[in-house]
Amino acid sequence: MGQLKELLVEEMQDLLHAETQLVGALPKMVDAANNPQLKQCFSTHLTQTEQHVDRLKRAFELLGEKAQPKPCKAMMGLIAEAEETMSEAGEKDPLTADIALVASAQRVEHYEIAGYGNVYTLARQIDELDVADLLRHTLGDEESADFLLTEISKPILQQASLDDTDAIQKKTHNPARSKVSLSAV
Ligand SMILES: [Fe+2]
Ligand SMILES: [Fe+2]
Repeated sequence: MGQLKELLVEEMQDLLHAETQLVGALPKMVDAANNPQLKQCFSTHLTQTEQHVDRLKRAFELLGEKAQPKPCKAMMGLIAEAEETMSEAGEKDPLTADIALVASAQRVEHYEIAGYGNVYTLARQIDELDVADLLRHTLGDEESADFLLTEISKPILQQASLDDTDAIQKKTHNPARSKVSLSAV
């Protein structure tokens, strides 16, 4: 096997492990999301992620290689961080918790975008065009998911910012506080 094909197979093994882990992690993110659109986005991406696993398996078949996952330490770390974010969600208001969840999810998508961008280029370079086609399809899903997360988070962020301003104003005009400062005078 040529070195580039070997590298392509190794990178795909890494992605297969990453995607398989995500199939396990995404249902927890669906449960953790407060905003209904965010929930829906995670749920749709779970279905897509299952297709990503299938596409990788088909790509291995086309290359005449076994679909053998290779432990992806980066994705394990990203998922561990997402789980930490979810376990700390109770300490935040629901809007801020959702924004934190989006930040974790986008880290995952960016990792996948980098991975699929590379395997797609490698497959094209060695003329494995059917494999490249499958990988490009998944790359498109990851890019759309990332874009959608940005769009969904915009109104959440705006609302969180309004709530923050309200909370600060209430604090400043708190009669109890004025009393304290008056008596202090
Ligand atoms: Fe994926
Ligand atoms: Fe993804």
